[in-house]
Amino acid sequence: MTRKYKLAVLPGDGIGREVTPQAVRVLEAAEETISGLRLEKHEFECGGEYYLTAGREWSKEAETFVKNEADAVLLGAVGAVRADGESVRLPDGNLAGYGIAIGLRMDLDLYANVRPVKLYQGVPTPLADKDPRHIDMVIVRENTEGLYAPIRGSFSRGGSKEMAVDVRIITRKGSERVVKFSFEQSMIRNGAPADGVRRVTCVDKSNLLAGCQLFREVFNQVAEQFPQVQRDYSYVDAWTQWCVRKPEYYDLVVAPNEFGDIITDLGAAIQGGLGVAPAGNIGDKHGVFEPVHGSAPKHYGKNDANPVASILASSMMLDWLGSRRRDRSCLEGARIIRESVAKVLKDGRTRTYDLCLGPWASVKPSSTDYVGARIADTVKKIGSQG
Ligand code: IPM
Ligand code: MN
Repeated sequence: MTRKYKLAVLPGDGIGREVTPQAVRVLEAAEETISGLRLEKHEFECGGEYYLTAGREWSKEAETFVKNEADAVLLGAVGAVRADGESVRLPDGNLAGYGIAIGLRMDLDLYANVRPVKLYQGVPTPLADKDPRHIDMVIVRENTEGLYAPIRGSFSRGGSKEMAVDVRIITRKGSERVVKFSFEQSMIRNGAPADGVRRVTCVDKSNLLAGCQLFREVFNQVAEQFPQVQRDYSYVDAWTQWCVRKPEYYDLVVAPNEFGDIITDLGAAIQGGLGVAPAGNIGDKHGVFEPVHGSAPKHYGKNDANPVASILASSMMLDWLGSRRRDRSCLEGARIIRESVAKVLKDGRTRTYDLCLGPWASVKPSSTDYVGARIADTVKKIGSQG
């Protein structure tokens, strides 16, 4: 029996509004070609632009749908700027839209932020001597605590801000669930590119920080349940240089929230840039999928942003739905979308400006919607071959 999934689509601001329609187009191509794949899409406005007109970050209806009805959420990006170049902010000083982007991670308890770092053929990496055989890891970022725990404030004296504090919270429960998630992910992969060994690397700063000492202690306890997976450790500062020097050594990498934020931008860089880096925010009940990149207001309206990150995020979404609901048509859709992205990138002629580098420097850049259309066509072609 065909199940119909309710999908919340939140394009948000800036290039989120340009790349998300391409991900939707590719999903529709997958639905067209895979019998049994049905996604009921519910699109809502949200973010900084919406705040400027409506005085809130999203409608009550959008919030209710996302939190209570949606089977999965596809998010673009949030963050808008005013004509004077200033960011659109809420009265409390937070950027308008973060209540959704960061708020959903907390409210829906999306404790694992999964960010695959995979270099596709045909994509330029800034690392000399590395190619797709070397770069294929998954970084799992703790997503509900650490420095992102909403416990912060500042103190003024005589009208001048004199002191500010952000409290970094690390809990046993928060660490345990994200570490377990990471070991489980390693079990469904083929190990590190260098040696095929299933390996989970704990990236922290436990030489100094109490929270990281707890994180590592929990890591070791959870690792006991996975004797088939090698444990590995790296301090976050050292890890950044190993990531550049020996990316092939890494299979799964798990890190507390703020370190995960930083190292996943490094990961994005070595896989070809933010334009191709997808993310899944995953909890026990909900999943929100988005590109790692932001709303890039400078690019908005140019139709030149790379839609690949958003398209790959939609394939992660289908993978997640498929394994959660034991639904083969979702898994099939995820696979076909991934293969189509790989095919278009490998072919080399169709790419946005950010990938027209190195051996592809002479390629004429394609627009956002042209790249989306070619990937959608490829999905239909691969799908019709069965
Ligand atoms: C990310 C982003 C967010 C974060 C920003 C927009 C608050 O950088 O998803 O990595 O820091 O988590
Ligand atoms: Mn980030």
